[in-house]
Amino acid sequence: MKIPLLDLARKYRAIEAALLVKWSEVFSTMRLLNGSNLAAFEQEFAAYCGVKQAIGVASGTDAIYLSLLALGISREDEVILPAHAPAPVIEPIVALGAVPVLVDKASGDYGPDLDSLRAAITSKTKGIIAVHLLGLPCDMDEILKTAEERKIPVIEDSSQAQGATYKMKRAAGFGVITPMSLGPVKNLACYGDGGVVLTNDDGLARTVQLLRVHGQEQKYDHRIYGWNSRLDEIQAAALRVKLPMLDQENARRREIAEEYSTGFRGLPLKTPPTFPDRQSVYHQYAVETPLRDRLKIFLQNKGIGTGIYYPVPLHQHAAWKAKGQAEYSLPEAERFSRENLALPVFAELRDEETAYVVSSVKEFFSTLD
Ligand SMILES: Cc1ncc(COP(=O)(O)O)c(C=O)c1O
Repeated sequence: MKIPLLDLARKYRAIEAALLVKWSEVFSTMRLLNGSNLAAFEQEFAAYCGVKQAIGVASGTDAIYLSLLALGISREDEVILPAHAPAPVIEPIVALGAVPVLVDKASGDYGPDLDSLRAAITSKTKGIIAVHLLGLPCDMDEILKTAEERKIPVIEDSSQAQGATYKMKRAAGFGVITPMSLGPVKNLACYGDGGVVLTNDDGLARTVQLLRVHGQEQKYDHRIYGWNSRLDEIQAAALRVKLPMLDQENARRREIAEEYSTGFRGLPLKTPPTFPDRQSVYHQYAVETPLRDRLKIFLQNKGIGTGIYYPVPLHQHAAWKAKGQAEYSLPEAERFSRENLALPVFAELRDEETAYVVSSVKEFFSTLD
């Protein structure tokens, strides 16, 4: 059996007819940017997330960049972020000339270690980025409490958590602004690059709306200097086809995760953390084991694709060292980088495939006895 970590073609085949109808409508008008699909998607997605405003942008990286810009973050301001995050979370901070300050991962949770977070706050801290990693919302109440005491805005990167809930509410709009990637591998995904910024703050929404089109109120009426960052009509149309299926697909991901976690009971590995008041959408299902590299090769030989999210924490990248940034020792983020291994968890995965993944992982551990 061959099981990829993610198979985008299966989903595409299932919705191809609906996509082609929508895309041919777009091509028949040749309105490729700022059209009716973008406006409708923004409304539909804001309503889905329970947030006042959604602003489509060109990527998740841009969504973070424009969110920080809208918050007025600039040179020498400090922005706190988790070390166990992908590079796009740090790049916008660096691009603005601000100072990234890293915090460790919490043990038994994908969110930040709260002591590490509190210790990282200084008088220069102008933002805290919380990343809902692998589909699991962070413990937002605790993060918001810490931030509010010091009046620091929380930027909630929900790129990996479309549809997840924290205390029965979608993982968006807890922080003052929520940048989100809608790139090809996300739970709600474009067929190319795309992103969205969500916020309940009308002022911030208006600023991001301006920033994404060169600061223009009308054509050639530039109110501020901005950027070019648009979610195009081809992507917005596809997102509108996919959004109504998101809850069902996330439910299927949870079902697979449940099957894995039940199947792995008793094995010497950690399964993803679960919390009664947080519903993960399993953007990835990652196990943790010191035997990660051997397990990865074993599964590869069995035809099972796996992934690592992420193999290197931000403070150990060559890019971090090349910038002459501070040295850190962040034991939990470093351990997680060494031990995590993501298994296939996408909605179109068949029962016999998930059963094969479970039996293959079990076989790996039985060969160690
Ligand atoms: C948590 C997180 N933030 C930001 C991004 C950047 O998104 P994009 O690839 O759409 O620029 C990603 C996607 O890789 C992500 O997973």
